[in-house]
Amino acid sequence: MGTIKDYRNMVEQPWGKMFYDMIYEQLNIPSDKRIRILDFGAGFCITADHYAGDHEVVAVEPNEEMYSLRVEESDYTLITQGPDYLKTVPDNSFDIALCHNVLEYVENREEILKQLARVVKPEGLLSVIKHNLFGRVMGSAVLGDDPKAAMDLLNEVSEDSMFGSRSVYSNEFLIDTLSHEMILSDSYGIRAFFGLSSNNEIKYKNEWYQSMLALEIKASTIDEFKKIAFFNHLIFKKKDAT
Ligand SMILES: C[S@@+](CC[C@H](N)C(=O)[O-])C[C@H]1O[C@@H](n2cnc3c(N)ncnc32)[C@H](O)[C@@H]1O
Repeated sequence: MGTIKDYRNMVEQPWGKMFYDMIYEQLNIPSDKRIRILDFGAGFCITADHYAGDHEVVAVEPNEEMYSLRVEESDYTLITQGPDYLKTVPDNSFDIALCHNVLEYVENREEILKQLARVVKPEGLLSVIKHNLFGRVMGSAVLGDDPKAAMDLLNEVSEDSMFGSRSVYSNEFLIDTLSHEMILSDSYGIRAFFGLSSNNEIKYKNEWYQSMLALEIKASTIDEFKKIAFFNHLIFKKKDAT
């Protein structure tokens, strides 16, 4: 199991950066300071900081080890709490809520989703990035050279991680849990390919980075690649109040 410092180092590497470049490509939020964005489980606040240049951003992160290593190039509000903060937020407060790579680690996944749906404005967006079981199987079998771990993943969906128990949940769970308030408007894959090769040297070359990013962007909308991508990105739109 890696440490939080290893994770902080990883996000600076080309294969860490590409995860965020894919998010920015898929979200494509117009620049407007009036747009209010909530980043729940903001981690090192990389995404929050990216959007804070042109938007009003609130980053929520309860883990001190994480937020003490945060990126702070732009101006955003950091809330050092978790789900308790969400309960204090009035209905329909944010244009966009982000919850990226977080719901794998929480106990009360359903409750957090309901709260996130509640605080988003009618016709606002909720962007959820989640682990995709078949992508994780690909990662263990290919990058990890560990077919046994890949088989275990296929047989068992829970394992240990640095944020506690990590469990993979299905896209259908997400769609069903949110169905009363929100409808799925877009879905993408992230990391169909760039996490599969162990040849790290080539990844520091700009030509590799730009070509791989273009390939990932192209593949991210194709169903066959979504199904084996390490992450899935689901974007929900809140129904109109009327
Ligand atoms: C894998 S990191 C992802 C960070 C960030 N969203 C990103 O995409 O870079 C998972 C984050 O979820 C946070 N987290 C775990 N449980 C949480 C909870 N109950 N409420 C809020 N955040 C939580 C962790 O502290 C960690 O920073």
